[in-house]
Amino acid sequence: MSNRRPNFFYHLHPPTIPTREAGPFYTFGLGGISLLLFLVLGITGLIEMFVYVPTPDGAHESIRNITYLAPYGWLLRNMHFWAGQLMVGTVILHMARVVFSGGYKSRRLNWLIGVALLFFTLVLNFTGFVLRWDQDTAWALMVGTNLIKSIPGIGTALHDFLIGGENVGAPALLRFYTWHVLALVLVASVLITWHIFRVRRDGGISHAKSAPRVGREQLVRLEILAMLLTLAALFGVSLLVDAPLGPPADPTALITEPKAPWFFLWIQELLRVASPFLAGILVPIAILLVLGLLPYALDRSDEGIAVWFNQQGRIVQLVFLIILAGAIALTLRGAIR
Ligand code: HEM
Repeated sequence: MSNRRPNFFYHLHPPTIPTREAGPFYTFGLGGISLLLFLVLGITGLIEMFVYVPTPDGAHESIRNITYLAPYGWLLRNMHFWAGQLMVGTVILHMARVVFSGGYKSRRLNWLIGVALLFFTLVLNFTGFVLRWDQDTAWALMVGTNLIKSIPGIGTALHDFLIGGENVGAPALLRFYTWHVLALVLVASVLITWHIFRVRRDGGISHAKSAPRVGREQLVRLEILAMLLTLAALFGVSLLVDAPLGPPADPTALITEPKAPWFFLWIQELLRVASPFLAGILVPIAILLVLGLLPYALDRSDEGIAVWFNQQGRIVQLVFLIILAGAIALTLRGAIR
């Protein structure tokens, strides 16, 4: 580094960083990996837009064109699909890291931005899933949007606004397409930029006050390594496993075993035992609210920053663990059905 001017990436970090936090076993690079996957999604999605046709007659066929006719289109589509699935995983792991290391302390606004990012990651994934326009996605869209109808008072109006009419059809696909490629991406990009700016503003990654420090070069090197490994893993899985594509959506066909996308299987399981309004609307909203409020209502102390499983944050850790374990258990139950 010595005489050279530090490049843009160095400025994402303060000039010096506490020794432990500059190593691989504090953040595990999970925030940075989530960011990388978001960028990969943006680039691969942009290229797919040149071929994808957002109409009920054209959607499924255009995805087959991407997969079978466009040069390396299959690889591009696989990378877009797998980056989306991986990102759900890395965002949840990143959140768990922040909870168990007390990283939310003194960084409570950024925690809230993070909860919003979790929501946008899931909704972006769902709207992308709908664009496949095969049997599964048509069913999931119908069930998902019907849940909205169960909201007292405004449900029907909100439902009709979201899908552009009373029934799922061409306007619904066009609307989900616009949400997916533009509106949600824009909001998520602004939130991610704000989130990372806040990390920098908060004095870098959370750390104990008097920790010894090293230059930021070590962390930047590790981040580049983490990015290369992530890209290699994404590339490997995309070469080996194809993104799913079922038969084209047919409103007259009966689906015997309809399944929600894996990240919403827990909601589908809840729907088996509770009313649509409770399982599909109230519980998800309550979970987001509880998550958002965790560092405000259950741990207001700034003791134990950057201390794994710190004493002061025990209740926050426990509540988070209960929510996570519940969601994983329901997802597994839904998956093996
Ligand atoms: C699109 C999704 C997300 C991206 C791209 C992202 C990115 C990042 C990055 C790059 C960092 C700094 C390095 C690191 O801690 O790994 C960070 C820190 C942080 N993130 Fe996220 N994040 C996302 C989602 C979330 C979520 C879901 C939460 C929690 C609800 C969250 C809460 C935080 C907090 C509180 C910090 C500061 C932690 C500390 O200083 O120890 N983020 N994020």
